[in-house]
Amino acid sequence: MVRRPLVLFSMALAAVIAPALAQQDPKTAASEAPPVFDSKFLQDPANIKVGETVWTGQCRHCHGSSAYPGKAPKLRPGALDPAFIYERVTDGFQKMPAWKEVFSQHERMSVVAYIKSGDFSP
Ligand code: HEC
Repeated sequence: MVRRPLVLFSMALAAVIAPALAQQDPKTAASEAPPVFDSKFLQDPANIKVGETVWTGQCRHCHGSSAYPGKAPKLRPGALDPAFIYERVTDGFQKMPAWKEVFSQHERMSVVAYIKSGDFSP
């Protein structure tokens, strides 16, 4: 069997590559580039509008001013960095659900734009 060494070599290669891929940080996975929160993105009225829809649909009932007290912290947008908000929205944290399977990256970035905007009304 002449081909056998090639097969073994491929298997060994797969064994090396697979764990390396599995270790990739999901936020920087090839399919999703790291988000860039420049003022152009954050101030774009179209993004803010998309973000408001996300907020009204899925965030307000926990974080909003009319939410049951203690359900979730009231957000203080001035104290929150866009990248931090995005990370919490994407991956969740303790009782905060993760939204990466629910909303596109653009929607998750847009809710950040809405929270950081003057339009934000929890
Ligand atoms: C089921 C209720 C619930 C929903 C729905 C929810 N959150 Fe949260 N969220 C929480 C809780 C609880 C925390 C506090 C987690 C902790 O720090 O222990 C939190 C934390 C956060 C934080 C971090 C706040 C801080 O000061 O540390 C941000 C930002 C946030 N949520 C944004 C959102 C956005 C945007 C949405 C909608 C896409 C959303 N949340 C939907 C419950 C919720």
